[in-house]
Amino acid sequence: NTIALVTGGFTGESAISFKSAEVIERNIDREKFEVYTIIITRERWYYVDENALLHNVDKNDFSLTIQDKVIRFDAVFIGLHGSPGEDGKLQGYFDMLGIPYNTCDAATSAITMNKGYTKAVVDGVKDLYAARSVQLFSHTPVSPEDLLKQLNLPLFIKPNSGGSSIGMSKVKLASELPEALERAFKEDSQVLVEEFIAGREFTVGVYKGKEGIQVLPCTEIISSKEFFDFEAKYTKGMTEEITPGRMSEEEVKRVGVVAAETYSKLNCNGIVRIDYILEEGTDKFFFIEVNTVPGQTETSLIPQQVIASGRTIQDFYTELIEMSLE
Ligand code: DAL
Ligand code: MG
Repeated sequence: NTIALVTGGFTGESAISFKSAEVIERNIDREKFEVYTIIITRERWYYVDENALLHNVDKNDFSLTIQDKVIRFDAVFIGLHGSPGEDGKLQGYFDMLGIPYNTCDAATSAITMNKGYTKAVVDGVKDLYAARSVQLFSHTPVSPEDLLKQLNLPLFIKPNSGGSSIGMSKVKLASELPEALERAFKEDSQVLVEEFIAGREFTVGVYKGKEGIQVLPCTEIISSKEFFDFEAKYTKGMTEEITPGRMSEEEVKRVGVVAAETYSKLNCNGIVRIDYILEEGTDKFFFIEVNTVPGQTETSLIPQQVIASGRTIQDFYTELIEMSLE
């Protein structure tokens, strides 16, 4: 089978997408799959061959023509974080062409890219809690004073469709709020303001495999920064990540059930990663968000969880590709 590995993208996460694609490319089984890495930017969709020559993709049918040979793809492996790989745009395009891919469908990708809308869908999942929050829209400004009447400090201010913590702030003092809102609105026309939940952070990979919905070992994240920000996410050694995280047997079981139900309720497909806070003192799992194209870089969490589950990354990617080909 011939697979297109798609990377690049339109957002600040494109640098991460290239790193993820490197890991994916290196780990796809070449005895089973022929792989072409396609780079998507706003200006150009292209493939770079071994002689460093660039070949444009034909957007009419997502084919490549190299020296009169037309290459068509049996499936696409999307390794592109943020828009257009994680927000449903490419998914809709490939649906129109009838080319299968490894991620959630267009509708689920679009919903999960919006942290506020996702919270509305997962509301009601048993044993899952969510921080109190307000979703702000640039067309209806809300003053910091009004916001502080509705929510209690400290607050997290997040660009609603953001990834890798870009444009995000933790606000402890009311005086910091205006600047934090401005920073987030620079990234997005919607901003999610959430109350801070004190506790420990966990994240868990969930995927649909040959045996149905599978939950990977949960990772505990101990960031040396105020929160798990961009620098902490991608600087080796900056964050302590423990897989499997320190949880009781009951907690492991509970988060597994919650994660599988969240995956199912959102109608997910492929590998996703769900982030939680285990609240100090109450033992409740608070939902943070779902990442439908989770990072696969050297420091990313999914590769660590796959290894902790006792299998190779190559074997894992093979299953994901084979599921998309079914
Ligand atoms: N958005 C980054 C890539 C992640 O969730 O891993
Ligand atoms: Mg994220």
